[in-house]
Amino acid sequence: MEELQTLKTIAETLNEANDLQAMLHTVLKQLVNLTKLQCGWIFFVEKGRYSLIADYELPPALLKEEKRVMCEGDCWCLNRYNDGRLKRAVNIIECKRLEEAIAGNWGETKGITHHATVPLRAGEETFGLLNVASPHKHTFSNKELALLESVAYQIGTAIKRIKLAENEKKHALLAERNRLARDLHDSVSQLLFSLSLTARGAKEMAVDEALQVALNDIQQLAHEALQQMRALIWQLRPQGLENGLASAFMNYGKMLGLCVNVQLHGVLHLPSEIEECLWRIGQEALNNCKKHAGVSDVSILLFDEREQVRMEMVDQGRGFHYTGEETLSFGLKSMKERAEAVNGTFSLESDIGKGTKITIRIPMPRGKNE
Ligand SMILES: Nc1ncnc2c1ncn2[C@@H]1O[C@H](COP(=O)(O)OP(=O)(O)OP(=O)(O)O)[C@@H](O)[C@H]1O
Ligand SMILES: [Mg+2]
Repeated sequence: MEELQTLKTIAETLNEANDLQAMLHTVLKQLVNLTKLQCGWIFFVEKGRYSLIADYELPPALLKEEKRVMCEGDCWCLNRYNDGRLKRAVNIIECKRLEEAIAGNWGETKGITHHATVPLRAGEETFGLLNVASPHKHTFSNKELALLESVAYQIGTAIKRIKLAENEKKHALLAERNRLARDLHDSVSQLLFSLSLTARGAKEMAVDEALQVALNDIQQLAHEALQQMRALIWQLRPQGLENGLASAFMNYGKMLGLCVNVQLHGVLHLPSEIEECLWRIGQEALNNCKKHAGVSDVSILLFDEREQVRMEMVDQGRGFHYTGEETLSFGLKSMKERAEAVNGTFSLESDIGKGTKITIRIPMPRGKNE
């Protein structure tokens, strides 16, 4: 009976949730309280990396230094999970993190030495693992493990649902950006184009010299506005990537009036997330060359190296005095942030008269996903 009640309460929470982290926290708390255990924590594992995504009532030893012992190093449960050996709920004989906490005299462990572990999954997909523990409890009964498994399965399904909803949102956003790009192109761009043609026609007919100058200015301004609008549309539209990064960079450069020399070293098989990231970074680098470098030749070099992809964007233009990452302004900072969002790094070399070189490195763990 109690078990059914637990499952029902948890199912209700999971059905209502839309925010992953909040959901995991609430459900963990419910699970621990309903099953009269002491504490619990959830590790998320993505692309071989784990993170502590939720925890409840951890003993002080595990909380020390902002939960350091929970956020680094390996342990038996994660090793098992990563080896693919963790298929069901199991008793973990001893917790390596707790052992370390005890050995290192990290503080109070509240009598917690062992925990149960269960993988979180939906069908074939796995998301991480859920651990629960109680003081002086060394083993969990089969009944307890079975209940944990049911709960973990429910959580896994809810995670999957939330992820699907997030993906859908991303697609909707993309569709919206495409729509906006199309609308801008069809309305404002066409108007600006007519404006520049009309100004040219009028200029040719005008006899008054002052009027001619004014109409010439209008034509010039309309032309510049049109160019900026084109650049904006390009940025809104990820379709630039249809034929791969290299041709996207060359076309974008052409549109800006630059001559872009793209070199590929190695065969690039980039996940779309990384490709889009490099594309955005490259666009800003090309914008900067156009605006600041004072030269029209730019090189973009892409290297597919064993564990990473490296992109170098080089111009021999006027360069600038670079005083370090703390002083980056918006355009350069957003390049850095984009790289960091996919665990990559950004570095910049520039000096007055010596040109500018920007290097982006993004790790690409090889293995399962290939
Ligand atoms: N390739 C380059 N050659 C010369 N100077 C550059 C180059 N790239 C950046 N800079 C210098 O670094 C500054 C900061 O660049 P950043 O992209 O952050 O800003 P911005 O281009 O001026 O403005 P925004 O990108 O917000 O439109 C520029 O103003 C310019 O002085
Ligand atoms: Mg810029």
